[in-house]
Amino acid sequence: MNDDIAATVGLLQRRLGAPPAIAVLLGTGWAPFAEQVQDAVDLPYAELPAFPRLGVGGHSGLVRAGRVGRAPVLVLGGRKHAYETGEADGMKGAVRSLAAWGVKLLLQTNAAGSLEAAMPPGSLMLVSDHLNLSQRSPLFGEPGDGRFIDMGDAYSATLRSQARAIAAQQGTPLHEGVYAWFLGPQFETPAEIRMAGRLGAQAVGMSTVPETILARHAGLRVLALSLMTNMAAGLQAEALSHAHTLATAQAASARAVALLAALVQGLEV
Ligand code: HPA
Repeated sequence: MNDDIAATVGLLQRRLGAPPAIAVLLGTGWAPFAEQVQDAVDLPYAELPAFPRLGVGGHSGLVRAGRVGRAPVLVLGGRKHAYETGEADGMKGAVRSLAAWGVKLLLQTNAAGSLEAAMPPGSLMLVSDHLNLSQRSPLFGEPGDGRFIDMGDAYSATLRSQARAIAAQQGTPLHEGVYAWFLGPQFETPAEIRMAGRLGAQAVGMSTVPETILARHAGLRVLALSLMTNMAAGLQAEALSHAHTLATAQAASARAVALLAALVQGLEV
């Protein structure tokens, strides 16, 4: 364990006590979930040496510990994206600190573009698998045989099945599909979207995949939820923009947040 991670784990232990089983990583549009957390204790990323300094607006840059109902949870208010630096390992220290502290599941959220007419903006999708189209890895330079991790069940099939049952119980429509990671920060071209569709993607986005790789390498289980904020390039008349992504996410966030709260309380990790 490097010094930053050891210091971060020490701080998490001292300030927050025992680790919750679930850490929720909030992506674009999912910030209102943090308001569901009761008995909240906040720690800025800036106080945690292994955590990144954040760039993109709309992310709180806070770690929030507390509970949803009776379930303890840790909420991470935002990621460092690979499009900010060209490096995919911006969340390495954070993910490794969570694992070393004792967290078991990284429950990721993101905003994504949809490739499926049946999954319009506002829809929710459980990520079943991913396409790492960037071919970047946060494990570049990692020594030893431990870097050759199995990615066959990256998004736990067992937990996905629980998640589908919880969504059905709640009456929340939940799609499931493959998320293709484009590095960004520019949106995709229509030709890139046609390619992603032929390769088997149902959704595209600029995040999540590096953290999934890091989490699997650190021994965490992973689930990921995508909120569709637009039809992908070439599939809608309007031009794509970050402002549009944020506006659609905001409009759809109540249902997204309710599902997330039910998952935190219902998943058996
Ligand atoms: N492409 C990439 N990332 C995204 C999109 C998209 O269409 N929508 C929200 N995040």
